[in-house]
Amino acid sequence: MEEARPNLHFTNSYSEAIPGADVVFIAVGTPPTLSGAPNLEFLSQAARCIGQHMNGGFTVVVNKSTVPIGSGNWVGALLREAFEQRAEQRAEERADGGSVEFAVASNPEFLREGSALHDSLYPDRIVIGADEPRALEVLYSLYRPILDQTFTAPTYLPRPETVFAVPLVSTDLASAELIKYAANSFLALKISFINEIGLVAERVGANIGEVARGIGLDSRIGPRFLNAGLGWGGSCFGKDTAALIATASEYGLHMPIVEAARKINRSQRDRIVEKLLQELKILKGRTIGLLGLAFKPNTDDLREAPAIEIAQMLIDRGVRVKAHDPIAMERFQREHHDMAVQLCRTGCEIAEGCDALVLVTEWSEYRDLDWEALAKKMRYPFILDGRHALDRDKLTRSGLHYVSIS
Ligand code: UGA
Repeated sequence: MEEARPNLHFTNSYSEAIPGADVVFIAVGTPPTLSGAPNLEFLSQAARCIGQHMNGGFTVVVNKSTVPIGSGNWVGALLREAFEQRAEQRAEERADGGSVEFAVASNPEFLREGSALHDSLYPDRIVIGADEPRALEVLYSLYRPILDQTFTAPTYLPRPETVFAVPLVSTDLASAELIKYAANSFLALKISFINEIGLVAERVGANIGEVARGIGLDSRIGPRFLNAGLGWGGSCFGKDTAALIATASEYGLHMPIVEAARKINRSQRDRIVEKLLQELKILKGRTIGLLGLAFKPNTDDLREAPAIEIAQMLIDRGVRVKAHDPIAMERFQREHHDMAVQLCRTGCEIAEGCDALVLVTEWSEYRDLDWEALAKKMRYPFILDGRHALDRDKLTRSGLHYVSIS
């Protein structure tokens, strides 16, 4: 941050930021609506305000937000409309009309929460899409230091030895917009695929971790996003798979593969309750502790976090729910204060009197908990590992009955 400070200026004033800018990025949220289609209100507001403040020169307006296919053209129309309205007003005031040159581009982001800086500087690829070649040229020169990796790597984030140059995908607007949805949907279905295989692995007594390793080493498949378990949460995969299905249906198309990925993901959460029922027989009146609330480690983001849904399912079945998270508890208190969940500060506090512990988020510190001490505090020393993250042998030696989700 310190190194970037001289080049950064923050403002909440459009009239300060927009006039004279060569490139304007729109990076507003596009949260899902009830139907699955994204809410584009923030995007349209931003486009209108940018249009009102553009003042000549050639401006590239870049959609960084994840937006439905076709939004680029729509943003272009909003920009033009807002610019023309403003120009009319000015003409009335000063009779000096004017014209503006701009182009809309799409530049989807592939940043993961918790590793956004790394993913920005050392991405697997950069995708730019525009129907106007001049816009692509501007973006190409903007990204050149990252594409060629000629910038000085920050001391706190050294360049990985395997990164030399970054491939560029330069394409039309609609393709760039579809790439983002297709990428997130593919990652989502990769996770659901391994979870479906996990079901079979469980029945036939195979080890899903070994199966994932065995298939992932095939370079056509790749090892990442094959961690079986509770499935995905967060603000991206759920929203983007729903948006892709919603867009396709506007064209009369079904997306059975993406729909199946969503269904499997949902059912992974039910499996936690099923496994607890199998082990404890009766849930009513039990005390169950959840280790982890955030949708993944290294963030306090609770959007679509499996922990929230699991906690609710257990509460609905008469369970007393306790929970711990290294950083997300404050946020949980703010956003879910109406949920009857007892938050605990330490592993021992959560284990006290529990009939089961469920590992929901694979924070690395959970691997090194004093499991022997925890087992002694529990009423029934049962641990359900929802992420295949714990060492079965170590926990068994510590006196716990260990079960994983598949
Ligand atoms: C995701 C994509 O990975 C980014 O490329 C994309 O830019 C971003 O969405 C976005 O659209 O903005 P993010 O949601 O931050 O990033 O997090 P991921 O690291 O992708 O994890 C998503 C979920 O999948 C987490 O709940 C994680 O626990 C789960 N997951 C991930 C698995 O269950 N198994 C895996 O093997 C990998």
